[in-house]
Amino acid sequence: MIGKGGCPEQASAKICMRVLVITGAGVSAESGISTFRGKDGYWRNLDPTKLATPEAFARDPNLVWNWYCERRQRIRKAQPNPAHQAIANLALQADEFLLVTQNVDDLHLRAGLPPEKMVQIHGDIFMTRCSRCEFRRYEQEQDGASLPKCPDCGALMRPGVVWFGEQLDLRKIGEVENFVTGGDCDLVIVAGTSALFGYIIDWALRARGQAGQLIEVNPEETSLSQFATRSFREPAGVALPRVVDELLSNGSA
Ligand code: APR
Repeated sequence: MIGKGGCPEQASAKICMRVLVITGAGVSAESGISTFRGKDGYWRNLDPTKLATPEAFARDPNLVWNWYCERRQRIRKAQPNPAHQAIANLALQADEFLLVTQNVDDLHLRAGLPPEKMVQIHGDIFMTRCSRCEFRRYEQEQDGASLPKCPDCGALMRPGVVWFGEQLDLRKIGEVENFVTGGDCDLVIVAGTSALFGYIIDWALRARGQAGQLIEVNPEETSLSQFATRSFREPAGVALPRVVDELLSNGSA
């Protein structure tokens, strides 16, 4: 017997689907990590969308570094929520799967998502890299000294995330493009993002092709909502476990 998408029926519980999931800050909101543009996102009365910039770091690197250290600490103490778990479950069951997350936290991975099925398009908050040379180190357990200097060249170190106005990592773009151009997806899920970046909308629409489903999970409407074939105006931790259960029991979206 041939399953949906033309792959042979498998003995395991795997669903024969090609799935792209795109997540944003809203998926970690129920783990206590504040979103960027929500009203709880402000830190010491400062707008995170203005702190996460090369200009803010040039003006006051200690302030920006302290903000990231606090976010790191909060993430270390946070736990994955049912939305992260549902996505990890789908990743393990879908025949072909990629998660593109704008989140720099490690909650998708800690929920069990295989690292090779995830692209952190805006970087990883636990990576500290030199602002001048190629030196980088991973600081998942604890932060280094306050605003460290590069041991190789002496320049200031900075978080290994993509700030507003900075280029995305070309290698990561390539990984997403490979998946998007590798065949139409049966299902694209976009969850917890305000979808303000053109490349997020572009990947979601191109990946679903002519016939795939596009599911949006977000309590608020976004610019992607008009293209969704199904919308869940609910928190991700409520809607995604249901959506994934439905998929796994029906084998379709
Ligand atoms: N479940 C689902 N969605 C939620 C939830 C929730 N529990 N809570 C909030 N949201 C939605 C909001 O309605 C909003 O649309 O999550 C979205 C969060 O939007 P942003 O704060 O703009 O976060 P994001 O879309 O990830 O931002 C993209 O911009 O600030 C930069 O680099 C940063 O990666 C970030 C990028």
